[in-house]
Amino acid sequence: MKVVAFSGSARKDGNTALLLKTALAELEAAGVETELVQLAGKKIHGCIACYKCFEKKDGRCAVDDDCINECVEKMKEADGILLGSPTYFADISAQTKALIDRCGMVSRANGDLFKRKAGAGVVAVRRAGAMRVFDSINNFFLIGQMIVVGSSYWNIGIGREKEEVASDEEGMKTMRVLGENMAWVLERIRS
Ligand SMILES: Cc1cc2nc3c(=O)[nH]c(=O)nc-3n(C[C@H](O)[C@H](O)[C@H](O)COP(=O)(O)O)c2cc1C
Repeated sequence: MKVVAFSGSARKDGNTALLLKTALAELEAAGVETELVQLAGKKIHGCIACYKCFEKKDGRCAVDDDCINECVEKMKEADGILLGSPTYFADISAQTKALIDRCGMVSRANGDLFKRKAGAGVVAVRRAGAMRVFDSINNFFLIGQMIVVGSSYWNIGIGREKEEVASDEEGMKTMRVLGENMAWVLERIRS
């Protein structure tokens, strides 16, 4: 079993990545293979609404000039997907939006490629706007017939500077419980 996590932060190794790594560590402890993909520094852009994915139905984005098809392949191979975003102006980052729109359209054009995989959103926030980010990510999972995994609180960690989120005790606990719950769900999806 494998879980792939995407950090949609523009900042490498920041709070979003640390939150995701914390959840992934629990999954690894439960014997699940994991991978973290950080979009920071990668070429990525939004959907151009060409709808060629619906014409071709080849499981790929027709605009093959950035990291999106690599991300689609990683999502296809995984049993679970974690999608993390920092809060930017009370919403998801542009990188996260590009990932959701492009991977989401490829999925829909091909009969819901990620159907019944487990999914969970993860949010880094300094102060306000995290719930909208969480909702936006969950919309990606829910329209794609995925199984959304919860935790002991909404999947949010609080911090501004890089890795400051480590001192948000409740946020870190929420990530550990999220990892445990995703491992539990994956075990049952498989059996
Ligand atoms: C462009 C931009 C917009 C931001 N907007 C918000 C916001 O609306 N609310 C908030 O609480 N924090 C906001 N922040 C702070 C980040 O959400 C916070 O620093 C977060 O921990 C960053 O995660 P990262 O380290 O993974 O990049 C913003 C940061 C940036 C760069």
